Amino acid sequence: MKNNNKITYKKAYNLLEEAFKKAGYKSYQLLHDLHNIIFTNQNRKGTLSSKETKKLFLVLWLLEQDFPIEYITHKAYFFGNLFYIEYPLYIPNPFTERIVEKTLNTIDNLSEPHSIIDIGTGTGAIIVSILKELKKPEKHEFIATDISKHALKIAQTNATRLLPYKRQQLLKLHHAFVAYKINTSLSAYLDEKAIYQASDKEIKRLLSLLEPILPTHTNVIIITNKPYLSLSVKYPTSVKFQDQKALYSNKQFDNTLKRYIHFLKNKGYKVTLIMETRRTINPPSSKIVTYRY
Ligand SMILES: C[S@@+](CC[C@H](N)C(=O)[O-])C[C@H]1O[C@@H](n2cnc3c(N)ncnc32)[C@H](O)[C@@H]1O
Repeated sequence: MKNNNKITYKKAYNLLEEAFKKAGYKSYQLLHDLHNIIFTNQNRKGTLSSKETKKLFLVLWLLEQDFPIEYITHKAYFFGNLFYIEYPLYIPNPFTERIVEKTLNTIDNLSEPHSIIDIGTGTGAIIVSILKELKKPEKHEFIATDISKHALKIAQTNATRLLPYKRQQLLKLHHAFVAYKINTSLSAYLDEKAIYQASDKEIKRLLSLLEPILPTHTNVIIITNKPYLSLSVKYPTSVKFQDQKALYSNKQFDNTLKRYIHFLKNKGYKVTLIMETRRTINPPSSKIVTYRY
């Protein structure tokens, strides 16, 4: 780029603020975060370097496309904490904070140790917030699963960043591949009739798949903000950038959850399910429900 085509910082700030507001953002903290990502030179005087110019135009373009700002800043606020996030993981939603509140109220009144299992943990927003807030988490067990290995990696990053070491150690993260297995190979075992047809060796093999997600305590609380958007509704453009498996209601998730609860119940566990579920399709709204099995 020729010298006379160079952009001054003043012009760049104005362009960015304009695009930022046009995309519907208001927080000056967020705008400040964008400045720090784009303008990396210590001395922000005169004109932008070519690297800064490239970054500026990329961010302007992304904002114009309604690309969620959380993926640019790698920051998402949830329950008063700053979670690290990467594209295309589900962006924690303030509505889901009600699951955290509900679970905290439930756990605070518990004298017995419980196994708390977050299915579809995403960035770990729910389980990490619970682990951070609980007065005495030590007597409970905390398990989180997700079908996305990327999500599990980021959930681990958030646990490490936000929790004291002892609390980090309480969290076990598992790839939901095991849950997939419940849905396929293990379905025969879960079907009461089929169990008599499977050999001991086969049952042992299938059960071993479940071991990582077999709760230690008899009392189990399953929490989930399951994918529940409907394909028939038009959502804001920014939704299209998020992992579709994380967003749209799918039978695979629902069946796995049902089978897992059924399996635990048959093994003598007492299960409470706390989840966010769709209330109305259009306009989209949700509610928190609790079921006891
Ligand atoms: C709506 S997001 C919720 C994420 C996080 N709990 C939150 O509230 O921010 C649903 C999550 O479920 C995961 N998921 C989808 N299908 C799944 C399955 N069969 N087993 C486990 N996790 C699944 C997605 O990868 C995604 O992270």
